[in-house]
Amino acid sequence: MLRIAPSLLSADFGELATAVGEVASETDWLHVDVMDGHFVPNLTIGPPVVASLRRHSGLFFDCHLMMTNPGDYLEAFRDAGADGCTVHVEVGDTSQLLAEAKRLGLHAGVAINPETPYEEIDPFLAEADLILCMTVHPGFGGQAFMPEVVPKIARIRAELDRRGLSADLEVDGGIDEDTVAAVVAAGARVLVAGSAIFGDERPWEAARRLRLSAEKALTGGQVHS
Ligand code: DX5
Ligand code: ZN
Repeated sequence: MLRIAPSLLSADFGELATAVGEVASETDWLHVDVMDGHFVPNLTIGPPVVASLRRHSGLFFDCHLMMTNPGDYLEAFRDAGADGCTVHVEVGDTSQLLAEAKRLGLHAGVAINPETPYEEIDPFLAEADLILCMTVHPGFGGQAFMPEVVPKIARIRAELDRRGLSADLEVDGGIDEDTVAAVVAAGARVLVAGSAIFGDERPWEAARRLRLSAEKALTGGQVHS
């Protein structure tokens, strides 16, 4: 199963509820980029904004915590209405953070940056509900896809399948109609896209086109609708 997860980072922050409504018919996930100005050099959304959006949307809120201290905020995001929270393997304490996220009833994810080797995430494949493989350096939307990450996506997919693990494999950064084929072929099934969707005048149509490109890659060119 393929999922498109539009990233709010590229939406108009003055019109967030409208932006969410514009893609709701094309997806059931929404990617929420949380940046702390420390783990990454940018500041974005915190629990109060998630709580406000929750009142406008029933979508699955997939919160990507680009934070040095995500453990201090998991409960606040859960209370605000997050469905999933993903922490970065680079901040450490991954087992404890995943266990805490699960205890709170969250879909518990772990993310890996482009320069971090596969071996860092291998120990957590069985503990996580979701593996997020970054295909840009986190911090900003609109960056170019890094094709050198594709072998790592394929390796994560191979290990998940070999061990019979059902974690979602998500990719994030520079995903568009052109780059999506490579990540789907490598085994990604949750496709985050910010600028490719919210950079379009009609985000719902951009989301639909992205899904069609992804489905085409999955079925080897034959789209079944
Ligand atoms: C980058 C964020 C991404 C970002 C993707 O730090 O984690 O979710 O919004 O944006 P695009 O799709 O424009 O690369
Ligand atoms: Zn993200």
